[in-house]
Amino acid sequence: MEQVIKIGLLGLGTVGRGVYRILAENQENIRQRVGVKLEIKKIMVRSLDKDRGIPLPEGILTTNLGDITNDPEIKIVVEVLGGIHPALDYVLEALNHGKSVVTANKDMVAEHGQRLFKAAQSNKCDLFFEASVAGGIPIIRTLKQSLAGNRIEEVFGIINGTTNYMLTKMTQEGCDFDDVLREAQAKGYAESDPTADVGGFDAARKIAILASIAFNTRIPLHQVYTEGITKITAQDISYANELGYIIKLLGIAKDRPEGVEVRVHPTFIPKNHPLAAVGDVFNAVFVRGNAVGDTMFYGRGAGELPTASAVVADIMDAARDILRNVPGIIGCTCFKERPVLAIGETFSKYYIRLQVTDKPGVLASIALVFGNKEVSLKSVIQKEATGKTAELVLVTHRVQEQNVQDALMDIKQLSSVIEVANVIRVEGEE
Ligand code: NDP
Ligand code: HSE
Repeated sequence: MEQVIKIGLLGLGTVGRGVYRILAENQENIRQRVGVKLEIKKIMVRSLDKDRGIPLPEGILTTNLGDITNDPEIKIVVEVLGGIHPALDYVLEALNHGKSVVTANKDMVAEHGQRLFKAAQSNKCDLFFEASVAGGIPIIRTLKQSLAGNRIEEVFGIINGTTNYMLTKMTQEGCDFDDVLREAQAKGYAESDPTADVGGFDAARKIAILASIAFNTRIPLHQVYTEGITKITAQDISYANELGYIIKLLGIAKDRPEGVEVRVHPTFIPKNHPLAAVGDVFNAVFVRGNAVGDTMFYGRGAGELPTASAVVADIMDAARDILRNVPGIIGCTCFKERPVLAIGETFSKYYIRLQVTDKPGVLASIALVFGNKEVSLKSVIQKEATGKTAELVLVTHRVQEQNVQDALMDIKQLSSVIEVANVIRVEGEE
């Protein structure tokens, strides 16, 4: 009789549907690569009545977790529900029933990775989460296995598809923020609560996961400095263009002697930087290892089939481990405890846009404050003077963030300064 490994799928939304489709369409190829057939036996959803848009066998849907976790035939549970509750309880339940787990859930992995890994280890199960970062790009397996011989020095890149799609449309077509967010939602890129995307939290979870693996230390999510794209205006995009930059939301993690630096924020990068060409829903991750040097990984960071591609590869690995009786062979790799540096301890160049009163001496008073805080200015441009107000655009040299923050505190007190309209870090150039 043909050997089959049975799977329980939790969720049949964007990603779940993609997993179902790939396992069906590439069935023969997958069977040959793994050595056995992989078959979805049950799918847990919220609503049994929803039109799923794909033909499903009678009785495959359930709303009862026990139909999956209590079924001894099901060896692998795939969690693509999203969110922390009830997904975390469901995954723990699956692991405690001895099932290997594949998940795309960065919220859960970033916040509860330690607990999940403990449960996987004590139950001798696999816990795979390739799709949780950068959709279809195989970056987690790359860091954990392919680059395992390196000391990783830096990991950074575009790791949120929704915001990259939005910034691309806003930059290239001048689209409105809310319109383009709605488009990203309609395409299935955005999280169920898109604040996670535009607020930078989704990217923060992903860079926390990547940095934990890269530097072998657990990165608590609350220590990841996080800024989203909600403050980016058409004005900033236009000034960036004029100054030779493009704005991208980057996740940045660096290993420094004093500790690790992990942050997410909109960033000016030079137009000729390789990340500048990464548009639409694409993601790209740079990794610098002390042996391999610079590497870059590029692909679709969200969407049904790209994300499901990563999930299915994890399912295949879990199935191989089951066949060889070695589930759990690659577990948690956080065996160090490194401090996470505060944002004030990081270094960057800064673009600063100020609204000021349009009168003589204003620029000199602002430059003096920056000078007092050892922030040297690379360029200063006065924009849109009306006779009453003017806009100043400044770019600093590379300085410590704390000095910039201290200078801005003092600048806000100047009577000639109406508003610090925006501050954006500049990376990717000497
Ligand atoms: P969707 O919202 O499209 O789908 C969620 C699915 O889970 C639905 O089928 C829903 O059931 C089901 N579900 C949710 N809550 C429950 C519950 N309490 N009980 C039973 N079923 C439930 O999400 P996505 O497919 O977009 O995302 C899934 C996961 O993948 C998330 O963790 C997300 O962050 C991650 N991810 C998503 C990517 C993407 O491009 N969309 C890319 C990378 C990762 P019903 O259909 O009945 O409502
Ligand atoms: N909402 C996420 C994004 C999905 O846009 O990148 C992929 O993790």
